[in-house]
Amino acid sequence: MEKKDIVLSGIRPTGNLHLGNYFGAVKNFVKMQETNKCFFFIADYHSLTTHPKPGDLQGNVRQVLVEYLAAGLDPEKATLYLQSDLPETAELYLFLNMNAYLGELERVTTFKEKARKQPDNVNAGLLTYPTLMAADILIHRSSYVPVGKDQEQHLEMTRTFARRFNRMYKNDYFPIPKAFNFGDDLIKIPGLDGSGKMGKSEGEGNAVFLAEDPKSIRKKVMRAVTDSGPTQKNQTKPEPIENLFTILKVVSKPDVVEYFDDQYNNMTIRYGDLKKQLAEDIIAFTTPFRDKVAEISANQDYINKVMKMGAEKASVSARQTVNDVRSIVGFKKIY
Ligand code: TRP
Repeated sequence: MEKKDIVLSGIRPTGNLHLGNYFGAVKNFVKMQETNKCFFFIADYHSLTTHPKPGDLQGNVRQVLVEYLAAGLDPEKATLYLQSDLPETAELYLFLNMNAYLGELERVTTFKEKARKQPDNVNAGLLTYPTLMAADILIHRSSYVPVGKDQEQHLEMTRTFARRFNRMYKNDYFPIPKAFNFGDDLIKIPGLDGSGKMGKSEGEGNAVFLAEDPKSIRKKVMRAVTDSGPTQKNQTKPEPIENLFTILKVVSKPDVVEYFDDQYNNMTIRYGDLKKQLAEDIIAFTTPFRDKVAEISANQDYINKVMKMGAEKASVSARQTVNDVRSIVGFKKIY
């Protein structure tokens, strides 16, 4: 990735940030805003595919924005905006939909999953979710899109749509965006339930949220899955234990990790002590975040300013793209 490359990612306005989101994505967003032109937006149009209650929508968007700001996204460095503040996205979506085919859209894994999960609401927005996502990306002519594995197929569709547009209308108009995974910087945080990754849909107690209060963090960590202890010196740690160490490594000091590692290896470890330490270190790590959330959340003027500034900055490239595309497809203003 070079300095001139434009980076863009979208954030669904659902739920609170957990340690997994932070170390897996947000921390890298915060780093990228220092080196590249970055757009980060809250995907509120996309959220309509599951019919959220109108009264909930604004609160969800606000909470997500506040948490990303508290986590270090800087509206002076990156362009942070709300998807629906750029109606240009909806127009580009319309153009792209004219060249998106039923067959390819129906084959998308996330669509098939959603159709199975919500058979009463298989709407056209779900089917064309990848076209809207392509519009998000192409509207700023982005080159890199940091996304998780679950979004790679959507990104592949964006590449298909961009290539198709270029071929049909104008060579090289859209850059072909690449998925960006952080390589060695990608830290996968496991959940507390003994297996798999941390996620909010993996069940109660599996994820620790950045804004969670200390009492609740202690409770969750103390309930994390373990086993009955090592039975041999220097044995490989089974997954649930390795998971606790993985989290310890990102929130604790190296000597703390070493201390418990030694204890594990000589079989004197007491998981209760390990968990107590882990809980306190998570609390110490997340406390500045919690304070920041409270501070930003109390400052509606600031939130309004951030949203307004983001919309203004983002609309420059969006306007340009939509004007270009209108003219490229043959809409000419002659009056
Ligand atoms: N689909 C993404 C998700 O579920 C959110 C998203 C919407 C997005 N538009 C995007 C991500 C554009 C990257 C680029 O997480």
